[in-house]
Amino acid sequence: MSPVIVNERQVHCGEILHLLDNPDSDHDAIQYLPDGALLVTEGHIEAIGERAVVLSQLPDDIPVFEHRNALITPGFIDCHVHYPQYNVIASYGEQLLDWLNRYTFPEEAKFSDAGYASAIASRFLDTLIDNGTTTALVFGSVHPQSVTAFFEEALRREMRMICGKVMMDRNAPANLLDTPEDSVAQSENLIKQWHKRDRLGYAVTPRFALTSSEQQLKGAAGLLRKYDDVLLHTHLAENAQECANVAELFPEHRSYLDVYHQYGLTGSRSVFAHSIYLDKEDWKCMQQSGSAVAHCPTSNLFIGSGLFSLQDAIKRNINTGLGTDIGGGDSYSLFRVINEAYKVQQLQNFTLEPMTAFYLSTLGAARTLRLDKHIGNFEPGKEADFNVLDYTATPVLKHRIAETNSVNEKLFVLQMLGDDRAVRQTWINGKPAN
Ligand code: GUN
Ligand code: ZN
Repeated sequence: MSPVIVNERQVHCGEILHLLDNPDSDHDAIQYLPDGALLVTEGHIEAIGERAVVLSQLPDDIPVFEHRNALITPGFIDCHVHYPQYNVIASYGEQLLDWLNRYTFPEEAKFSDAGYASAIASRFLDTLIDNGTTTALVFGSVHPQSVTAFFEEALRREMRMICGKVMMDRNAPANLLDTPEDSVAQSENLIKQWHKRDRLGYAVTPRFALTSSEQQLKGAAGLLRKYDDVLLHTHLAENAQECANVAELFPEHRSYLDVYHQYGLTGSRSVFAHSIYLDKEDWKCMQQSGSAVAHCPTSNLFIGSGLFSLQDAIKRNINTGLGTDIGGGDSYSLFRVINEAYKVQQLQNFTLEPMTAFYLSTLGAARTLRLDKHIGNFEPGKEADFNVLDYTATPVLKHRIAETNSVNEKLFVLQMLGDDRAVRQTWINGKPAN
């Protein structure tokens, strides 16, 4: 490795893959350069092309990083994750509602301590980087100081991150409850302080329908109307018992999604994690409102929630990204998430193509988070967040890669066998992050 170059013009050479559009709808969406070059200037992509062509236009003394036996891709984007659940991962034996009560709520209560929140936020972001995840849509805890701590750590690392304070005013332990008024005021303060500061963004974050009063849901919708470029981030139809409880709590609504819809929480800035138990009307509502989905297969399997129908989302062109849903999910690696997304679709007789899975973790995820102007691929002008993926990370990976005949096959093998070991290096804002 050459010496670290900070904020200088530099070129990265090797095998490069990124998507210009959704590969399902545009067959020219895939740009694969077996011997390519990525020119980076002050944290942005300046040019991409064949190595010989790009290098011929550059001065001889430009720093060149050679990435051999590797694939250079855009940084991965995690569309649903909870940073305060760093120490909840791998908690045994419960499904959603008992898992929340037994493990998650007691741990989240610790985030009233800003020092604890900073320490966990720091570890969490370093873990994301080691897994090649450069952007995420992140739940904080109910405490506004948890979000401040998170944004401070993300700012320090120059990461493009979206986070929000959880709004929850009922059906949880008293030490985790806010009020409709406080939750709106605290969220608004955080928006004013952090939204669009450097690479940071805010998401209004009611936890789920069970823990918000009608007044709080209305307050969340008010924030969305007032701040027309913040996101809405929540859980939807994840678990059968959760859905039954929502039906009981909101008897006048046709469905779980209808609760959010009637309170003004659907729309093109809304990201609904899980979305497993939807009927035809719900899918129509998702499509017509332009809402997006975060699919979390590792979590859906680990806490036994159910099988998401990716086909229903894809055939309706619904913006969809993948999420680790730590700590319901059991891995930070988007490779592991793709691995289980593939298996979950196999069980439903739908074959998830490797390029589609790649889209769901890069450009498609950027579109899901309304960030595709900035990140998601290597179009010139976009921010230089990228991964160097190591084809030789493990003996099994190395030998299986040697047997592949196409980039599609290589990508699939990486997705099925890869994890954090396959992320040789992560670059954020044009700088090496690990
Ligand atoms: N629904 C409400 N809260 C949570 C949470 O923390 N994790 C998951 N997976 N689902 C939720
Ligand atoms: Zn979640």
